[in-house]
Amino acid sequence: DWTPDAFVETTVEELKKEIGDDKVILGLSGGVDSSVAAMLLHKAIGDHLHCIFVNNGLLRKNEFESVLDQYKHMGLNVKGVDASARFLDALKGESDPEGKRKIIGRVFIEVFDDEAHKVENAKWLAQGTIYPDRIESVSASGGPSAVIKSHHNVGGLPDYMKLKVVEPLKMLFKDEVRRVGASMGMSPEILGRHPFPGPGLGIRILGDITAEKVAILQEVDAIFIEGLKKWGLYDKVWQAGAMLLPVDSVGVMGDERTYEKCVALRAVESTDGMTADWVNLPYEFLQKTSNDIINKVKGVNRVVYDISSKPPATIEWE
Ligand code: XMP
Repeated sequence: DWTPDAFVETTVEELKKEIGDDKVILGLSGGVDSSVAAMLLHKAIGDHLHCIFVNNGLLRKNEFESVLDQYKHMGLNVKGVDASARFLDALKGESDPEGKRKIIGRVFIEVFDDEAHKVENAKWLAQGTIYPDRIESVSASGGPSAVIKSHHNVGGLPDYMKLKVVEPLKMLFKDEVRRVGASMGMSPEILGRHPFPGPGLGIRILGDITAEKVAILQEVDAIFIEGLKKWGLYDKVWQAGAMLLPVDSVGVMGDERTYEKCVALRAVESTDGMTADWVNLPYEFLQKTSNDIINKVKGVNRVVYDISSKPPATIEWE
C-alpha cells in the first residue's frame, strides 16, 4: 500500500543514488508542487539543491518576501530574484491575454536562465511536475514549472542548458503531494495554499498592466483572502481571487460624480480546476469585504461577486 512516509523514504534514497554529488537547480513558484519537490531534494542532497524564486511583480501582496522567508525557514538553499521591473517593462501596452502570457513566460525563462548560469556545474533541473500535468496540455501556462515543462515538451531544454531533468512527484496526484509534504513536516500554510496561476495578477488585470493597477489589485486581493482566512472560509474554497475590470464605474461623492475602478471577486469549489462551481459565501462576509475594499482601497468604488460556474465561465477572467 502507498504511504507518504514510505514514498519519502524510497524517493530520497533514489534521488541520492541518481544525483550523487551533482548540483541541481529548481524554480520555486510558491505553490505546493514545487515546494514539496524542493523539500524532497533538500532531504536527499542538502545544499547541492539550488532553488530560484523569481518575483515577476504579479504575485499577491507581500507574497515574495513572506514565501521567501518560509523557504529559508525550511532550510532550503534559495535565492530570491526580484525581476518585477523587468516584467512590468516588457508588459507595457500589452492587453491581449495570450500576449501577456507569452511575455511573462519569455521573461521568466530569461531571468531563470541568467540565474541558473550563475550556479556553476549544475547537472540537473528539478521540476514539480505531477501526474495530471503530464496528461493535460500546459501550453497556455505561464508558470515557472509549466514554462520549462513546455520547453521540455517540444524536444528538450535550450541547447546551452544541457541539464538532465528530475521530477520526483511525476507519479503523484495533488492530494498525495500534500500528504507527502505533511509527512516531511511542511507547514499547513504552504500545503493548503490555493492554486495561483503562473502569470499571476497579470491575467486578473483585464487589459493592459501598470504598476498602479497591480498595487490596487494587490490591496483588494489581500483584503479578500485575509477575510476568507479570518472567517474560516479559506480552506472550504478551492481557489479565490479578485479581478480588476477595465471599467470605470460611476460613483457619487457629495454632489460630484466620480469614475473609479470596479473589481470582481471570485471563489470556486473544484476538485481539479477542470470544472468549478461558485461558492455560496455568506452575505455578511460579502458585505464586510465589499465595505472594507471600498473604504480602504483608493480608486475602487464598486465590488461585484462572480456567480458563474465553469463551464462555460473559466476560473480566471482571461
Ligand atoms: P481556468 O481559468 O482555465 O483555470 O478555468 C483553471 C486553473 O488553471 C489556472 N490557470 C493558469 N495557470 N498559467 C497557469 O500556470 C496560466 O496561464 C493559467 N491560466 C489559468 C487557474 O488559476 C485555475 O487554477
